[in-house]
Amino acid sequence: MEDEFYITPWEVRGEVDYNRLIKMFGVKVIDRSMIRLVKKVFGEVPLHIRRGVFYSHRDLDRVLKEYLDGKPFYLYTGRGPSGPMHLGHILPMIFTKYLQEKLDTLLLLQLTPDEKYMYHENMKKEEIFEYTIDNIKDILAIGFKPDKTILVDDFRHIDYLYQLAVSIARKVTFSTARATFGFTSETNIGLIFYMAIQAAPCFLGYIIDDAYANCLIPAAIDQDPYWRVTRDIAGKLGFPKPSQIHGKLLPGLEASGKMSTSDPETALYLSDKEEAVERKIKNAFTGGQPTAELQRKLGGNPDICTVFSYYAYIFEDKDEKLKERYEDCKTGRLLCGDCKAELISRINSFLIKHRENKKNIDNETIEEYMLDNRVDIGDLINNYDLLR
Ligand code: TRP
Repeated sequence: MEDEFYITPWEVRGEVDYNRLIKMFGVKVIDRSMIRLVKKVFGEVPLHIRRGVFYSHRDLDRVLKEYLDGKPFYLYTGRGPSGPMHLGHILPMIFTKYLQEKLDTLLLLQLTPDEKYMYHENMKKEEIFEYTIDNIKDILAIGFKPDKTILVDDFRHIDYLYQLAVSIARKVTFSTARATFGFTSETNIGLIFYMAIQAAPCFLGYIIDDAYANCLIPAAIDQDPYWRVTRDIAGKLGFPKPSQIHGKLLPGLEASGKMSTSDPETALYLSDKEEAVERKIKNAFTGGQPTAELQRKLGGNPDICTVFSYYAYIFEDKDEKLKERYEDCKTGRLLCGDCKAELISRINSFLIKHRENKKNIDNETIEEYMLDNRVDIGDLINNYDLLR
């Protein structure tokens, strides 16, 4: 069937039906009452929530209510370094930065070269290590709070994670893991255990700083299977269930599907130069008519337009302006060529600034964010029993 889609934490194909995902995953949509609560905490409704980009959650209400009662939460998100980063990868990072800035809270950022090494059985370790550094630079270029942001690299920091992961792994049966992730007899055993490594930072924050009462994970919704399993066993280990706020995947430049690394022409990389951005946006799928004349007469369809969605997801922060663009498209006042030209210039100025920020992040800067330079493993293990 054409409208079928396939989604796992490692692979997404087809046109994702986000409403159906809510039922499939058993998550909650961010509704009116949730929005009121969000407004109370942030003093506004964050852009990505307003626009429905971050659209569903687990237990966000509990975490925000407790926050209002003086119980802070930390943030946890991550990145699997299997390739160069594109705009779709940076979108949840932009949202996470907003959350951290607003609440001035700890952020654990996990890098998972181990996950990618085990999933992509043909990838060379050198490649994955290179992407790890390059991805870290892209992520830090977004501008997280240096004193409150900690990088956790699974290979480098396994001693901080391993005992927690073993405690988690002991509570998760193969039958649960298979049902949740779709593992088969062909799946390598590393990937089966790996879920416990990605779950560990859901609890590590409490051990680093016991002032925190909860953990909130802003991430794309494809990561939800990890949190489902982790939530099931959190209580058994004496921790609160991690809560989530889920984002949609940034659409690719084609008629359907998300921005994907496997087809470079459908994705905008953070390293794409001006000409590449121009070429890709010019070729992008739009909701426009085949000719300018028809467009003026019949108008376009912004609801299916990838170009419009980029304005909505990232490149137009003023609601009024976005609405104007929407109306102008529908009525045929705005032609695709002009709409694309404006987007090209916005994307390019974003990327040029991004790459300038990235240049300033050298290895020394990265070191400052590394978990082992921030928290002493000896102290941690002396003061806490990581093995639950
Ligand atoms: N599995 C994620 C990926 O493939 C990486 C990751 C690790 C992550 N921990 C996370 C993503 C927490 C979001 C939140 O990219």
